[in-house]
Amino acid sequence: MRGIGKSFVGVRANDEVNLTVKSGDILGLLGENGAGKTTLMNILYGLYQPDQGEVLINGQPVSVKSPRESMHLGIGMIHQHFMLIQKHTVLDNIILGFDDLPFFFPQKIMRKKIEEFSRRYGLQVDPDKYVWELSAGEQQRVEIIKALLHRADLLIMDEPTSVLTPAEAEELFTILRRLSEEGHTSILISHKLDEIMSVCNKVLVMRKGKVTGEAAIDEVNEKTLATMMVGHEISLSYPKKPLEPGDPVLEVEGLKVNSDQNLPIVRDLSFTVRRNEIMGIAGVSGNGQREMVEAITGLRTTVAGQVRLNGKDITNKSARHINDRGITHVPEERIKFGTVANLLLLENSVLKQHHNQPFSVKNLMNYPSIREHASRLVEDFRVDAASINTPIKNLSGGNMQKLILGREISANPDLLIAAHPTYGLDVGAADYIRRRLIECRDGGGSVLLVSEDLEELFQVCDRVAVMFEGRFMGIVDPADCDMGNVGLMMAGSLPKETN
Ligand SMILES: Nc1ncnc2c1ncn2[C@@H]1O[C@H](COP(=O)(O)OP(=O)(O)O)[C@@H](O)[C@H]1O
Ligand SMILES: [Mg+2]
Repeated sequence: MRGIGKSFVGVRANDEVNLTVKSGDILGLLGENGAGKTTLMNILYGLYQPDQGEVLINGQPVSVKSPRESMHLGIGMIHQHFMLIQKHTVLDNIILGFDDLPFFFPQKIMRKKIEEFSRRYGLQVDPDKYVWELSAGEQQRVEIIKALLHRADLLIMDEPTSVLTPAEAEELFTILRRLSEEGHTSILISHKLDEIMSVCNKVLVMRKGKVTGEAAIDEVNEKTLATMMVGHEISLSYPKKPLEPGDPVLEVEGLKVNSDQNLPIVRDLSFTVRRNEIMGIAGVSGNGQREMVEAITGLRTTVAGQVRLNGKDITNKSARHINDRGITHVPEERIKFGTVANLLLLENSVLKQHHNQPFSVKNLMNYPSIREHASRLVEDFRVDAASINTPIKNLSGGNMQKLILGREISANPDLLIAAHPTYGLDVGAADYIRRRLIECRDGGGSVLLVSEDLEELFQVCDRVAVMFEGRFMGIVDPADCDMGNVGLMMAGSLPKETN
């Protein structure tokens, strides 16, 4: 691809982009949310036409007008969201896209081909299963087989691991390596540095529509890639000034909560979070973290125990009452529960605060101050949006997350509860969020941070509790603890005293 340019209303999505891949390459296309990666690949796949520049395949300029044409040129694309028909079997889904099926026994011949490709590339799929029965990893393998059956030499994958478990991601990398040995070329879009380092042989970094770096993988490390991606050096560690924890903000005593199935899921938790403190909750998801947070924030009734905020009992009070008393909450499913899709960005920027000063004066919305607030959030949290008057549903997932986080942090809560706040974010945005959490602590607030990312917890928190099956296996000091023990506690062994 040479000198590719593409603009959307108000955005230069691609600007003078050059990209070259050779047979057998696994190229990592790296960049923050909104850098222009998907746009560039949609151009290569024929979904968009470039405003400038040209695409050459085997040295020949081509004009790719549609995905059908790109398929004929040997290009296949696996989108972020799979395009399979759920009610059909794997075999039917694969057959569907072919216009040159064999006349006799098409099912039998295609089944044989699927089996052959399965074996050759280690792509395990069952042709007779229905798509709705498949895991994300299996669906992805079906898409890959489909592309290979269409004779794709170049496979584009848009953030393929975002829907996979770590084990499935590892399998995918094995498949990509195998494809590369057979002379296939892959382009892997990602914002995860470790992923690019582990599977790619080359990397192209984009920022704000432009190429900011290109290198062979052995010439770079995570730190240099992060710098190319964000445009300034980012620390992968967070020096915190030592602070003596202050008065208790949140006190939880003997908390018991049931799951949606009405079974005990939080079993007798007691802990205290103080001013000037970030307390982390580590653990594999599903060990009661979500239910604990819901009970504290008034979204779920407790079975037993007491929750106090600044010394006052808030057990089983309404979510609005608790929010007004000083707890803000970044929920786990933040897009579903954190925004109202059809409202504008600026309206979403004051959700839950809209009835308070200065956004509401005498029961009337004070739009000038809401606009000012929304603009500041967009600026501070680097939310990429056409304007504050855009419906929130038009924002990318990462940008929605940044806005929600900004909204909850900027409310200056006594306690901020953040569940997986950097999940799915690019390094630049994650770095920014972590700094803001620390600022919240330094400014006299307190934070309860639930995360599966141990590195994040140990970089940011003053104390980390490890949760397993509704209990704390132990509370550790990040400055002085054995990660091996933490791993064991996450798996339920090595029970220690809780405080
Ligand atoms: N169809 C579109 N209409 C308007 N703007 C778009 C469209 N697609 C992408 N953009 C904008 O172009 C920029 C690059 O987006 P994208 O290529 O999706 O980035 P990435 O995949 O790197 O996250 C973003 O600012 C995005 O909002
Ligand atoms: Mg994208």
